[in-house]
Amino acid sequence: MALNERAILQSELRWAAVVGGIVAIILGAILFAALSMHINPPSNREYVDPKTLHLSAEFTESNLGTRVDPNGQIVARLIATQFEFVPNCIVLPANRDVTLRFATPDVIHGILVTGTNVNTMIVPGYVAQVHTRFTRTGDLLMPCHEYCGLGHSQMIATVKVVRPEQFRPAADGRIACGNRR
Ligand code: CUA
Repeated sequence: MALNERAILQSELRWAAVVGGIVAIILGAILFAALSMHINPPSNREYVDPKTLHLSAEFTESNLGTRVDPNGQIVARLIATQFEFVPNCIVLPANRDVTLRFATPDVIHGILVTGTNVNTMIVPGYVAQVHTRFTRTGDLLMPCHEYCGLGHSQMIATVKVVRPEQFRPAADGRIACGNRR
Protein backbone atom coordinates (compact mmCIF):
# COMPACT_ATOMS: atom_id res chain seq x y z
CA MET A 1 0.00 0.00 0.00
CA ALA A 2 2.74 2.46 0.97
CA LEU A 3 4.62 1.59 -2.20
CA ASN A 4 1.49 2.24 -4.20
CA GLU A 5 1.10 5.69 -2.67
CA ARG A 6 4.70 6.50 -3.51
CA ALA A 7 4.13 5.40 -7.10
CA ILE A 8 1.11 7.70 -7.32
CA LEU A 9 3.08 10.60 -5.86
CA GLN A 10 5.91 10.05 -8.33
CA SER A 11 3.49 9.90 -11.24
CA GLU A 12 1.93 13.17 -10.12
CA LEU A 13 5.32 14.81 -9.74
CA ARG A 14 6.30 13.64 -13.23
CA TRP A 15 3.18 15.20 -14.71
CA ALA A 16 3.74 18.38 -12.71
CA ALA A 17 7.22 18.55 -14.23
CA VAL A 18 5.79 18.02 -17.75
CA VAL A 19 3.20 20.78 -17.24
CA GLY A 20 5.84 23.05 -15.71
CA GLY A 21 8.06 22.41 -18.73
CA ILE A 22 5.25 23.25 -21.17
CA VAL A 23 4.46 26.50 -19.31
CA ALA A 24 8.16 27.40 -19.38
CA ILE A 25 8.28 26.77 -23.16
CA ILE A 26 5.19 28.95 -23.74
CA LEU A 27 6.56 31.77 -21.55
CA GLY A 28 9.88 31.45 -23.36
CA ALA A 29 8.14 31.72 -26.74
CA ILE A 30 6.25 34.85 -25.58
CA LEU A 31 9.47 36.42 -24.28
CA PHE A 32 11.30 35.51 -27.49
CA ALA A 33 8.54 37.04 -29.65
CA ALA A 34 8.46 40.18 -27.51
CA LEU A 35 12.19 40.77 -27.18
CA SER A 36 13.62 39.62 -30.50
CA MET A 37 10.66 39.96 -32.91
CA HIS A 38 9.01 42.98 -31.20
CA ILE A 39 5.59 41.36 -31.11
CA ASN A 40 3.82 42.97 -28.17
CA PRO A 41 0.25 43.80 -27.23
CA PRO A 42 -0.50 47.48 -27.95
CA SER A 43 -0.07 49.52 -24.79
CA ASN A 44 -1.78 52.76 -25.77
CA ARG A 45 -4.75 53.78 -23.65
CA GLU A 46 -6.42 56.85 -25.01
CA TYR A 47 -10.11 57.63 -25.12
CA VAL A 48 -12.19 59.18 -27.87
CA ASP A 49 -15.95 59.59 -28.11
CA PRO A 50 -17.18 57.44 -31.02
CA LYS A 51 -20.38 59.51 -31.32
CA THR A 52 -18.50 62.72 -32.08
CA LEU A 53 -15.50 61.24 -33.88
CA HIS A 54 -16.24 63.11 -37.11
CA LEU A 55 -16.71 66.36 -35.18
CA SER A 56 -13.73 66.18 -32.85
CA ALA A 57 -10.51 67.79 -33.95
CA GLU A 58 -8.26 64.87 -34.75
CA PHE A 59 -10.47 62.46 -36.69
CA THR A 60 -12.42 64.91 -38.82
CA GLU A 61 -12.36 63.87 -42.47
CA SER A 62 -10.03 66.69 -43.51
CA ASN A 63 -7.45 65.58 -40.95
CA LEU A 64 -7.32 61.93 -42.01
CA GLY A 65 -4.43 60.37 -43.90
CA THR A 66 -0.70 60.98 -43.55
CA ARG A 67 0.64 64.24 -42.19
CA VAL A 68 4.07 65.34 -41.10
CA ASP A 69 3.47 67.25 -37.90
CA PRO A 70 5.37 70.52 -37.31
CA ASN A 71 7.71 68.65 -34.92
CA GLY A 72 8.68 66.28 -37.74
CA GLN A 73 6.63 63.33 -36.48
CA ILE A 74 5.00 61.35 -39.29
CA VAL A 75 1.46 60.38 -38.34
CA ALA A 76 -1.22 58.59 -40.36
CA ARG A 77 -4.78 58.84 -39.07
CA LEU A 78 -7.51 56.49 -40.25
CA ILE A 79 -11.11 55.72 -39.45
CA ALA A 80 -12.16 52.08 -39.56
CA THR A 81 -15.86 51.82 -40.24
CA GLN A 82 -18.30 49.25 -41.60
CA PHE A 83 -16.96 48.37 -44.14
CA GLU A 84 -14.07 50.50 -45.24
CA PHE A 85 -11.06 52.46 -44.10
CA VAL A 86 -11.01 56.21 -44.54
CA PRO A 87 -8.79 56.84 -46.38
CA ASN A 88 -8.35 53.44 -48.00
CA CYS A 89 -4.75 54.17 -48.97
CA ILE A 90 -1.98 55.94 -47.07
CA VAL A 91 1.59 56.87 -48.03
CA LEU A 92 4.46 56.41 -45.59
CA PRO A 93 8.24 56.48 -45.97
CA ALA A 94 10.46 53.44 -45.42
CA ASN A 95 13.16 53.49 -42.73
CA ARG A 96 11.56 56.33 -40.78
CA ASP A 97 9.70 56.22 -37.48
CA VAL A 98 6.00 56.50 -38.23
CA THR A 99 2.88 56.45 -36.10
CA LEU A 100 -0.47 54.98 -37.12
CA ARG A 101 -3.58 56.15 -35.28
CA PHE A 102 -6.99 54.55 -35.72
CA ALA A 103 -10.47 55.12 -34.35
CA THR A 104 -13.87 53.62 -35.12
CA PRO A 105 -17.36 55.08 -34.83
CA ASP A 106 -19.19 51.73 -34.93
CA VAL A 107 -17.95 48.26 -33.96
CA ILE A 108 -14.70 46.50 -33.14
CA HIS A 109 -12.33 46.18 -36.09
CA GLY A 110 -8.73 45.01 -36.24
CA ILE A 111 -5.85 45.65 -38.59
CA LEU A 112 -2.59 44.11 -39.56
CA VAL A 113 -0.09 45.24 -42.16
CA THR A 114 1.03 42.27 -44.22
CA GLY A 115 4.64 41.22 -43.68
CA THR A 116 5.18 43.51 -40.67
CA ASN A 117 4.57 43.27 -36.93
CA VAL A 118 1.86 45.96 -37.10
CA ASN A 119 -1.29 44.43 -35.64
CA THR A 120 -3.89 46.03 -33.40
CA MET A 121 -7.55 45.97 -32.47
CA ILE A 122 -9.62 49.09 -33.09
CA VAL A 123 -12.18 49.35 -30.32
CA PRO A 124 -14.96 51.97 -30.15
CA GLY A 125 -14.09 54.59 -27.54
CA TYR A 126 -10.34 54.13 -27.83
CA VAL A 127 -7.60 55.41 -30.10
CA ALA A 128 -5.50 52.50 -31.39
CA GLN A 129 -1.90 53.62 -31.90
CA VAL A 130 1.08 51.81 -33.36
CA HIS A 131 4.64 53.12 -33.68
CA THR A 132 6.63 51.36 -36.35
CA ARG A 133 9.31 51.59 -39.00
CA PHE A 134 8.75 49.95 -42.38
CA THR A 135 11.88 48.34 -43.75
CA ARG A 136 10.75 47.59 -47.30
CA THR A 137 8.95 49.59 -49.94
CA GLY A 138 5.86 48.60 -51.87
CA ASP A 139 2.10 48.39 -51.55
CA LEU A 140 1.40 46.53 -48.32
CA LEU A 141 -2.12 45.28 -47.76
CA MET A 142 -3.87 46.22 -44.55
CA PRO A 143 -6.98 44.09 -44.11
CA CYS A 144 -9.48 44.21 -41.29
CA HIS A 145 -8.89 41.03 -39.32
CA GLU A 146 -11.74 41.19 -36.82
CA TYR A 147 -15.12 40.04 -38.06
CA CYS A 148 -17.21 43.21 -38.09
CA GLY A 149 -20.24 42.34 -40.18
CA LEU A 150 -21.32 41.18 -43.62
CA GLY A 151 -18.84 43.38 -45.49
CA HIS A 152 -15.86 42.39 -43.35
CA SER A 153 -14.08 40.52 -46.16
CA GLN A 154 -14.19 43.63 -48.38
CA MET A 155 -12.62 45.84 -45.73
CA ILE A 156 -9.07 46.41 -46.85
CA ALA A 157 -6.67 49.32 -47.23
CA THR A 158 -3.24 49.82 -48.78
CA VAL A 159 -0.14 51.15 -47.08
CA LYS A 160 2.08 52.57 -49.81
CA VAL A 161 5.63 52.50 -48.43
CA VAL A 162 7.94 54.65 -50.54
CA ARG A 163 11.62 55.44 -50.40
CA PRO A 164 12.34 58.41 -48.10
CA GLU A 165 13.36 60.62 -51.06
CA GLN A 166 10.01 59.89 -52.74
CA PHE A 167 8.14 60.97 -49.63
CA ARG A 168 7.42 64.60 -50.43
CA PRO A 169 4.54 66.05 -48.44
CA ALA A 170 2.84 69.28 -49.48
CA ALA A 171 3.47 72.59 -47.71
CA ASP A 172 0.81 71.75 -45.12
CA GLY A 173 2.62 68.50 -44.32
CA ARG A 174 0.02 66.28 -45.95
CA ILE A 175 0.60 63.52 -48.46
CA ALA A 176 -1.97 61.18 -49.99
CA CYS A 177 -2.05 58.27 -52.43
CA GLY A 178 -2.43 59.31 -56.08
CA ASN A 179 -3.36 62.97 -56.37
CA ARG A 180 -1.87 65.02 -53.59
CA ARG A 181 -4.04 67.25 -51.50
CU1 CUA B 1 -13.84 45.78 -40.11
CU2 CUA B 1 -13.78 43.41 -40.21
